[in-house]
Amino acid sequence: MTTKSEKNSTKEENSKSFLKLADRLSYVPSYIFAKLDKEKQELLSRGIDVIDLSLGSPDLPSPQIVIDECINAVKDPSNYRYPPFWGQKRFKQAAAQWMNNRFSIDIDPEHEILPLTGSKEGITHLAFAIINPGDLSIVPSPYYPVHARGTLLAGGTIHELPLLEKDNFIPDLDSIPQPVLDKAKLFFISYPNNPTGATCDFEFLEKLTRLCIKNQILLISDLAYSELSFDGKTASSILQVKGAKDIAIEFHTLSKTYSMAGWRIAFVAGNRKIIEALYEIKTNTDYGVCNIIQASAAKAFSISDNERKKNAMMYQERRDIILEQLKDIGWNIPKPGGAMYIWLPVPKQYKSSFEFSCDLLHKAHVATIPGSSFGTYGEGYVRFALVDKKERLQEAVRRMKSVGLINQ
Ligand SMILES: Cc1ncc(COP(=O)(O)O)c(C=O)c1O
Repeated sequence: MTTKSEKNSTKEENSKSFLKLADRLSYVPSYIFAKLDKEKQELLSRGIDVIDLSLGSPDLPSPQIVIDECINAVKDPSNYRYPPFWGQKRFKQAAAQWMNNRFSIDIDPEHEILPLTGSKEGITHLAFAIINPGDLSIVPSPYYPVHARGTLLAGGTIHELPLLEKDNFIPDLDSIPQPVLDKAKLFFISYPNNPTGATCDFEFLEKLTRLCIKNQILLISDLAYSELSFDGKTASSILQVKGAKDIAIEFHTLSKTYSMAGWRIAFVAGNRKIIEALYEIKTNTDYGVCNIIQASAAKAFSISDNERKKNAMMYQERRDIILEQLKDIGWNIPKPGGAMYIWLPVPKQYKSSFEFSCDLLHKAHVATIPGSSFGTYGEGYVRFALVDKKERLQEAVRRMKSVGLINQ
């Protein structure tokens, strides 16, 4: 006869062998900021007013024209069926036309554009199409975590290429060892950059393209912040570089440009063969972006340059206001040229970015992301996302000052 406790232990053993997770989950450390996020939620549940500058989730409204189209699209029964695997024609045509207007490049909407359920989804799935266990990707670090995670989930490894403040967070391409170039299959870049806010010039894109062509590496440009350049500058597309389409693709998201992060829509453009490889993975894992979302998002591309620039101006103004105040409490840092972040050096008395982020959360009630979440070369910094109103950003720095979180 089995006792009650024996029954329980048999149950436990069964459940252990039943839930044997895939090894790949151990290759991707769960986000370091998960602990901080939990603590933030606890503070919020106690009614504490936390100024949340952690995720890069835009607080500005999505465009009215997109919302109106969404209401129409919901009523159209043709949108209730599965979306076409290759994406809706009108979305792809509008995206290709936008690329042409914005960067003066010709993209074939049929074969050289694929809608995505966000760039994050596309970047991860791309790794599954290209990376075999043991393969290598070159990832400038600090990085948007997904640039590394896709390769790691697919069983590959990454070479972290340092982005240093002394080089304006532009990688030294000449420093990459030849064996790394020989082995690498993917090379990621993203300017304007998350988390550093750095921008790059066209010569850098040209040099990088030459390097990737010479070494036969697929070049992945993540242009999430293409429309968030400041001080009158504009970002270039990798596809503007002569010959780049032979080896490159570029991810564009509507999350930042049009404040549509929750709608989950993006697209990839460029080399047809690479896009077809991504398509193969996607047709086996999903049905593509919801018809209603594709139809609505297509309208976003008709928004004028001036309207788009207003968003960039808003972030620029926020940048200037917070930097001005940070100067008062000891941080005199160069202005980031784009994106929507302040990349703040950790004061000397702290041992880690995590420790400083903890103090910001618990003492000043300001939520940020520790730099170590963005890779080896992110340590020593904390990221502030400019995703709240000017007054709240000012309040965040006032709180830091009042609890002594200053840079001595
Ligand atoms: C560089 C970069 N790429 C992609 C994304 C995510 O884009 P999406 O919302 O389209 O998944 C982010 C989000 O913060 C990002 O910073």
